Amino acid sequence: MKNLLDIESLTVEDINYVLERAAFYKKKLQGNEPCSDVLSGKIILNMFFENSTRTLTSFQMAAYRLGAKVINWDAGSSSLNKGESFSDTLQCVSGYGFDAVVMRHSEFKAPYTAQKLLDCPVVNAGDSWRAHPSQALLDAFTIQELKGGVAGVTVAICGDVAHSRVANSNIALLGVMGAKVHVVAPPNLLPDVSKYEHVVAFDNLEDGLVGCDVVMMLRNQKERMQSADVPDDTEFFHMYGLTQTRLSCARSDAIVMHPAPMNRNVEISDDVADDPVKSKIFHQMANGLPTRMAIFDYVMSGGR
Ligand code: CP
Repeated sequence: MKNLLDIESLTVEDINYVLERAAFYKKKLQGNEPCSDVLSGKIILNMFFENSTRTLTSFQMAAYRLGAKVINWDAGSSSLNKGESFSDTLQCVSGYGFDAVVMRHSEFKAPYTAQKLLDCPVVNAGDSWRAHPSQALLDAFTIQELKGGVAGVTVAICGDVAHSRVANSNIALLGVMGAKVHVVAPPNLLPDVSKYEHVVAFDNLEDGLVGCDVVMMLRNQKERMQSADVPDDTEFFHMYGLTQTRLSCARSDAIVMHPAPMNRNVEISDDVADDPVKSKIFHQMANGLPTRMAIFDYVMSGGR
């Protein structure tokens, strides 16, 4: 039985399998062709303990496109609100025999706890500040599609890097796949990246963008920081917001990505977010569907 708990547990072959299957499913979706019945007869449980638009909707859609049925468990109306524990909740749903569980949780490594308690594959849809492996895979798929590959590409990851599970999973995946990473943030939002040979840290956005093929912006994750961690939104935009002028420091053919949700005119200006040539943000979001189909394929049909 396979799980997707983090990028670090995947081999290069696993990552390439998901990227190849994502390309396969994207072509099928674009051609309005039937995709696969790989999940026919299966029932998937989405357990999101934190809000989501993209990840929840695209995992749900991916399951339907592969022939599964889906139940979206709702934390807000669950018996957690009557004091039931996380562990008892999982043992309860374990008894119903789901074929896979997709989980998002604010607690560190909650999907690992789930994997120990459940007798089915678990897919991490984002836990705490630590890991968002399906986002990193869809980001790599997007880079591969638009830049012809991931190896040799330089990616700037900019903004609130310290609290970002997207940054963590991307740093891991981009390293394994042979890319270079610039992390760019105010000093108090820069994590210690000294253990990574492929990562260089900058506290100035213009400097960090020089030579970059991809500029990946991040939202300030206020839900995971002390209020004093960042200046107010106007000041943050003044110092670290991506404008057309700053973007011109990157390579002339650089693309702009963002995992979203975006906070416009905080970390990114409207005209950059909506730039018809450089911004690939909505393209990237749409790639969540074929990539998450590929992830189901990987964990439920045995992968390679
Ligand atoms: N990028 C991302 O995880 O978005 P959602 O929170 O909307 O799922």
